[in-house]
Amino acid sequence: MAIRNIVKLGEDDAVLHKRARKVEKFDARLHELLADMAETMYAADGAGLAAPQVGVLKRAVVIDVGEGLIELVNPEIVSTEGEVTVIEGCLSVPGRSGKVVRPEKATVRGLNRDGEEVEITGEGMLAVCLCHEIDHLDGIVYVDKMIEDVSDQYEFAKREEQA
Ligand code: NI
Repeated sequence: MAIRNIVKLGEDDAVLHKRARKVEKFDARLHELLADMAETMYAADGAGLAAPQVGVLKRAVVIDVGEGLIELVNPEIVSTEGEVTVIEGCLSVPGRSGKVVRPEKATVRGLNRDGEEVEITGEGMLAVCLCHEIDHLDGIVYVDKMIEDVSDQYEFAKREEQA
């Protein structure tokens, strides 16, 4: 395992604005990528990380909102419920935070590292994180959809809010 460099917005960031490709091979290389992404996320004290954030245009994400590590490959949102305004940050946008409207509850289908189907329903922070990471796979960074930049008002401390 290795800690990879996190691509930052505004610094050679083209990869953050592209649509990532579906993963087709569930091989050792994918497993290494997922392991490195988890290590990188934990080292940066983040709650989620998408492969494009480490420069890899593949549809893979890791999430840990304090309930254990979730790895998702080719994830898709299949249903959402409710709407909530949350304050988000992103490991690719260090030191900044903004208000974003997200669903209260989201159900996501995808595959695990071995290509087996998984379905996850998340509420609260997990729903937010699932949507934030899947946005990354479509080339969307939270700042593209934030309704207000609150970087100057909000003391950025909680790890749960960086993804
Ligand atoms: Ni992010």
